This record gives sequence, C-alpha cells and structure tokens, in this order.
Amino acid sequence: MLTRMSMASTAGAIRVEGLEKSFKDLKVLRGVDIEVARGSIFALLGSNGAGKTTLVRILSTLLRADAGTATVNGFDVAAQGADVRESISLTGQFAAVDEILTGRENLVMVAKLRHLKDPGAIADDLLRRFSLTEAGGRRVATYSGGMRRRLDISMSLIGNPPVIFLDEPTTGLDPEARLEVWQAVKELAAGGTTVLLTTQHLEEAEHLADRIAILHEGRIIVNGTLAELKQLLPPAKVEYVERQPTLEDVFLTLVGARKNGENQ
Ligand SMILES: Nc1ncnc2c1ncn2[C@@H]1O[C@H](COP(=O)(O)OP(=O)(O)O)[C@@H](O)[C@H]1O
Ligand SMILES: [Mg+2]
Repeated sequence: MLTRMSMASTAGAIRVEGLEKSFKDLKVLRGVDIEVARGSIFALLGSNGAGKTTLVRILSTLLRADAGTATVNGFDVAAQGADVRESISLTGQFAAVDEILTGRENLVMVAKLRHLKDPGAIADDLLRRFSLTEAGGRRVATYSGGMRRRLDISMSLIGNPPVIFLDEPTTGLDPEARLEVWQAVKELAAGGTTVLLTTQHLEEAEHLADRIAILHEGRIIVNGTLAELKQLLPPAKVEYVERQPTLEDVFLTLVGARKNGENQ
C-alpha cells in the first residue's frame, strides 16, 4: 500500500485527456481535459444532463470511455482498473446507508467487509469526525437528510482512499444540511484526500472548491480558481455575488444555522 501511494504521488491525483463518450448517437463527452492536484477540491459544474455522472463513472471504472485517457492516483482507468478502485471511493446522490442499522453499525459493517482491524475504533473515529457521535447509536431511519449524507460520506472513507468522488453530494438537501455536508467535505480535503465533486449549484463550488471547471456541451469550457472565474463576469455581477446576502444567507441566519460560525 505504501509503495503504491508513493509511486503514485509523482502524478496528479486525477488526470484526464481528450476523453470522449457517446451513448449511441448522443455525444456526451467530446474531448474532456482536466487535472486535479493532490489534496485539493475540484468542482465539476454542469447543468442536468451535461455529462458529470458519465465522467465520474468513467473515472471510477464503472464505464469505459470511447477515446482519450484518464489516470486516477497514477493508475490508468482502462488498464489498471483494480488499482484505481482501490484508490477511490464513490458517493452518489442517493445515500447508500442501511436505515435499519444505527449509524455506528453501518460503519462497523463496512469496516468488517473491508477486513480492517478494529472496526469499532474506525467507526468511532469517523462518527467523531463527522459530528455524529451522539447520533451514532440511533437507527439511520431517524436521521435528517444531512446526517444521512454525512454518514454516507464517512462510510466511503473507510480504508482511507486517497481520492473521493462525490456526485452531487448535496442535491435534494435543505440549506442547513447542505452546510453540514460542505463542512464534512472541507475536512476531507484538509486531511489530504483529493475530492472531485460534481454539482449544479454555483454556491457549492464557490464555497468548497480550489478549482472549478464547467462542463458544457461535452467540453470543459472554463477551468480555474474562483477568482479567475469571477474575472470572466462583468463587474456588477461580481459585486452582486460578493456583497449581497443570498436568500440562503438570510434563511440560515433566521434559522440560526450559522451560530457556530460555520461556512466562514
Ligand atoms: N447509460 C446511458 N445510456 C444512454 N444515455 C445515457 C446513459 N447515461 C447517461 N446518458 C445520457 O447522457 C447524458 C449525460 O448524462 P449524465 O452524465 O448523467 O449527466 P449529469 O450527471 O451531468 O446530469 C444525458 O443526456 C443522459 O440521458
Ligand atoms: Mg449526474
């Protein structure tokens, strides 16, 4: 495992060049290029149907590209699928948690499935990291949407994969739950994990990402830091984005979700 990590550490965490994918006559990816640095959060923005999930599925070896190359953690997705799968975790829009079990039982189960030592300690550590210690003994059926999604993300971290794909991690969540997930994602990256997340929400990319790419009509039409992207917009719009409180700000202030100084 160590050899693997150090061997791979010379390459970018994710590197995609000229990736193409069609479904029959539908050209979804028409030559996608991206590079994601280790330990960074990269947001792939795009409207519904843009091809975000298709790209994530190719990078996680669930789907084969028609052309182009992609490496994850230094491994080629087409030729070294098993190594790629060992290097990643994938969390989708719908939480894959077992409702009947408690949060802690879910974590212990996954740690056991992965044949890890001391599943209980692994579970307790993750519960702590995702602020679920108190909820850990309750059935998941009683959890809020944000708690479920946090548990889902924490389950995907068991075994410490260096790269994590989050496909629309906050779609369908209310603003408060979204903030909780954002906090969890930030902590992941702070711990050295490389995060590629897809989103339809500009504010999500704005809050979380080191770099943002926009996938549109099969290609990456912009790729840069938030500051770089903002320079592409007219000044009035930049002012609006930076200075005016959003409806979400107002809502969260009114419901008191920012009392802990989250999202600063
Ligand atoms: N297995 C498939 N067969 C046929 N068409 C598909 C398949 N998967 C995705 N598509 C189509 O490809 C396009 C991109 O889908 P997707 O990658 O899911 O977009 P996004 O995740 O950005 O919403 C959509 O038009 C979708 O209907
Ligand atoms: Mg999708």
